[in-house]
Amino acid sequence: MHDFHYKNGKLFCENVAVEDLVKQAGSPLYVYSQKTIVENVNRLEIALAPLDVTICYAMKANASLGILGLMACMELGFDVVSIGELRKVHFAGGDTKRCVFAGVGKTEAEITDALKLGIYSFNVESIPELERINRIAGKLHKKAPVAIRVNPNVDAETHAKITTGTYANKFGIAFEEVEALYRKAKRSYKNLHLKGVQMHIGSQLTDTAPFVKAVKKMIPLVKTLRDKYDIEFFSLGGGIGIAYQDALESGSADWWQTKGKDFISPEKFADALIPLLQPLGVKILIEPGRFIVGNAGILVTRVEYVKQTPKKNFVVVDAAMNDLIRPALYDSYHQIVPLKQSRTQKTIKADIVGPICESGDCFSHDCTLAPVKEGDYLALMSAGAYGMTMACNYNGRPLPAEILVSGDQADYLRLRENIHTTWKYEGIPQWLLFEEEEQPKEKKEKKAPKKSSRKTPKKQAKSAKK
Ligand SMILES: Cc1ncc(COP(=O)(O)O)c(C=O)c1O
Repeated sequence: MHDFHYKNGKLFCENVAVEDLVKQAGSPLYVYSQKTIVENVNRLEIALAPLDVTICYAMKANASLGILGLMACMELGFDVVSIGELRKVHFAGGDTKRCVFAGVGKTEAEITDALKLGIYSFNVESIPELERINRIAGKLHKKAPVAIRVNPNVDAETHAKITTGTYANKFGIAFEEVEALYRKAKRSYKNLHLKGVQMHIGSQLTDTAPFVKAVKKMIPLVKTLRDKYDIEFFSLGGGIGIAYQDALESGSADWWQTKGKDFISPEKFADALIPLLQPLGVKILIEPGRFIVGNAGILVTRVEYVKQTPKKNFVVVDAAMNDLIRPALYDSYHQIVPLKQSRTQKTIKADIVGPICESGDCFSHDCTLAPVKEGDYLALMSAGAYGMTMACNYNGRPLPAEILVSGDQADYLRLRENIHTTWKYEGIPQWLLFEEEEQPKEKKEKKAPKKSSRKTPKKQAKSAKK
């Protein structure tokens, strides 16, 4: 469910017409619904209330400072994967003591900083990492809280690039090796607190079956670790999927009772897992990212050209793969809808493409939509997760703006990046720079610089840094 809907033919986010926002803030533009985010969190909390549960928001899904501030207001924990993310949680007012720190490549500096700040637990991905954390904790005279990330070798039945829990993936420690590792850690790693155990089998799971399969496999191990090492938590990771195909329709309760009745939901997740988890008597952590923010955001884009070729039509829009890389990276689907509904029943078939010089810069192939023209706006639905967080400056494109809507209020989460700041941290090597007066005389005489090109590279580099 979400709060994007048509009212009098216009797409609204809560009580605000999206067109009004894009006319003010420009395009491309991310727009998020606060109410949708809050309701997604509430549904998870209510469904899982019979358990002693902590929700650690996987901020990799959407790490905008304002979104983190909202999560902090809701007193969520966070799943972080770098010291940059942990520091940002701290800055946004989140509680680092409710953070789990995951990732296969934690550096010494990251572990040190996290230990000094104080976190809930490291999710440890390898034996060398466990040794490294033990050594650093010893130096700091601290006990490092750790959970081993178990690779249960269960197929999540999702896209290969977001499957994480099989032995073909780089994540976690093989299920069969885990118990012996806890034994070794208890005996040899005196600076560790064996606090829990963790798994994460993949992302965008649309059915509860793979979760059930993995949890059932984990249960005997969790019981052993609880009894022998007194672990206090079992983290199931993230992975609850959202409706991309019928994204707009999935905003209404009707869709969930009809077409979407078999689709995963917090309630189905809870019904399937609570009977398995409750008897364990340990704290349960979940690390949802996509479920919380995915359907709470859209990417708005302007139609620049409609290009007809003998083979097909192309609608060239001003958003591109640098703003939303999921279609190019995962062949993922985003439903595309107009900000203004058309009065005609006529439709066209077109590829919706961005301006980037890559054939992969295509948001939708053979998309059926009402005829569009230059200046019309479209929205890519369900773009709230793994959208802006993965955005980059490819092709010299400034990052888009982001706006959060709450009821009839709207405010910026991020201003549109300005072209000059896209090269803010770049420079021209010293030996390539020269002042105008150092230029060979005859060159200067031959070709007097035009007024607009008077700056030498050296001066340009200086002014860009300002
Ligand atoms: C360890 C871990 N936890 C949680 C998540 C969040 O997954 P999702 O956004 O599908 O809920 C991920 C995603 O990659 C992850 O790797």
